[in-house]
Amino acid sequence: MNEKIRIALNEQINAELYSSYLYLSMASFFKRLNLEGFARWLEVQAMEELTHAMKFFNFINERGGKVDLTSIDGPPTSWDSPLSASEAVYKHEVKVTGLIYNLVNIATEEKDHATSNFLQWFITEQVEEETSAEAIVQKLKLIGGEGGGLYLLDQELAQRVFTPPPGTTILAGAAKGGA
Ligand code: FEO
Repeated sequence: MNEKIRIALNEQINAELYSSYLYLSMASFFKRLNLEGFARWLEVQAMEELTHAMKFFNFINERGGKVDLTSIDGPPTSWDSPLSASEAVYKHEVKVTGLIYNLVNIATEEKDHATSNFLQWFITEQVEEETSAEAIVQKLKLIGGEGGGLYLLDQELAQRVFTPPPGTTILAGAAKGGA
């Protein structure tokens, strides 16, 4: 595996694990506000980020590359309001999209078509991630971020369930079964 690509993919493992850390921290923030639905949504989001990290982990290993796990930064622990926390989710996802695009650029420069192909899934995923985060921000703005509207939005977000993305498993061996 090309060393430049290997280093970049390893950095993305760290970025995805940081995303999981960030959303877990945010879930705890919402639990302190007794907004269990928001907390649930973020716990599911944190799980999804783990599957993203594992996708990179498995891809590096499958191609015979070395995985270097590095320290994960501590995320913030509180935000000014549900709106500011939700805006932070959206901003973070936009940042991650930029990281994915940068990886695609490196893979293209290095003519690594296998990595380019692997990254296509993340391009699609990031569109969804940004859209769902932005939808929460918009709804919060619509309801003024409080009162009965906030209660109903919290109920809505509580419905989210964790479903591993299709073709994605935490354990590499299990992926062979097509589950
Ligand atoms: Fe792994 Fe939310 O991007």
